Amino acid sequence: METRVLHVAPPVTPQSPAVQAGAALIRAGELVAFPTETVYGLGANALDAAAVAKIFTAKGRPIHDPLIVHIASPDQVHAVAERLPPLAYALIAACFPGALTLVLPRRQHVPPNVSAGLPTVGVRMPAHPVALTLIEAAGVPLAAPSANLFAHTSPTTAAHVLADLGGRIPLILDGGATDIGVESTILDLSGEHPRLLRPGGVSLERIQAIVGDVKIEIVQRYAGGGDPMDSLPAPGMFLKHYAPHAPLSLYEGEDSAVRAALQQAVNGARAAGERIGLLILEEDRPAFAAWEGNPQIVIGSLGKGASPDQAAARLYTLLRHFDAAEVTVIFARAMPPVGIGAAVQDRLMRAAAGRIIRL
Ligand code: TXA
Ligand code: MG
Repeated sequence: METRVLHVAPPVTPQSPAVQAGAALIRAGELVAFPTETVYGLGANALDAAAVAKIFTAKGRPIHDPLIVHIASPDQVHAVAERLPPLAYALIAACFPGALTLVLPRRQHVPPNVSAGLPTVGVRMPAHPVALTLIEAAGVPLAAPSANLFAHTSPTTAAHVLADLGGRIPLILDGGATDIGVESTILDLSGEHPRLLRPGGVSLERIQAIVGDVKIEIVQRYAGGGDPMDSLPAPGMFLKHYAPHAPLSLYEGEDSAVRAALQQAVNGARAAGERIGLLILEEDRPAFAAWEGNPQIVIGSLGKGASPDQAAARLYTLLRHFDAAEVTVIFARAMPPVGIGAAVQDRLMRAAAGRIIRL
């Protein structure tokens, strides 16, 4: 199959030719990749089971990993979910559109394969004009996971999508690089207490400010050891996820200890003839100045430790850069889990798949 890439220039309206082309494919039961403010999504008509099934095939995604349904207005939540708890209304009022996915009781007419057979459905209203106009023009909610091959890093540009899914899908809408760079926060409201299934674009601090005294259960997903492909307590929450090709080891601890351990790891790997990807913060650079420009070492900076937004925006591009440079090992430093830094640290821990060095 030939994959077309259509650039969508602002101002975007449901009448924009690229959006119309996308909407026609969606209505015909086909897949369309599109930008959101978090990462690119791979969309299908959420109410068409056969179209939804194509997502799993195109990504090589296991059918027990549920999809998020994307809507274009807060009210459209009622088209896919029912029996909303009071907390859902407060979160929708504050965070839709935005990088928050709510897991809610699923309406009967939403095909079970959207939710991997679960009685719930993940719903999110993206804050991106291309995503919103595509959903509007198609006239149906869109089931959409991130538009990458299963377990690879999520795409933040149309080029990332093309690299993973070229030849497997008919159309990519190119809306430029995504703003946030990591996926949405997932909050499960279907049980007795809200459960944070995945930290993401909306910080836990912000959610806590909205829900007040309500206690949020944080689902612990880093059992450590074991098979990295094992499914964890939340469906689809595999430990090895968001992973670059080379094994990534994550160094956690006090700054000077982390730098010393990274230097030692790099020296060992150099001696072993490895090609090394080094993922650091701007303030770490002086410690590695001697290796700038060394052809065996690719240095990627997530920016300043105090700017987790920048780290989120850069993370997946840097991991894909390491893939393109064909590094054979990656050493990364942990991020302070504050604000969106918690999402960055979560993705690093999963990319590390258990290779975490605590100093
Ligand atoms: O920012 C995002 O959320 C992006 C953009 C495209 O919207 N989407 C995304 O989708 O990250 P995906 O498929 O890569 O991650 C969806 C995850 C699933 O792996 C699962 O863990 C969780 O969302 N999920 C979806 N529906 C669920 C449900 N009914 N119950 C529990 N978890 C659910
Ligand atoms: Mg994904």
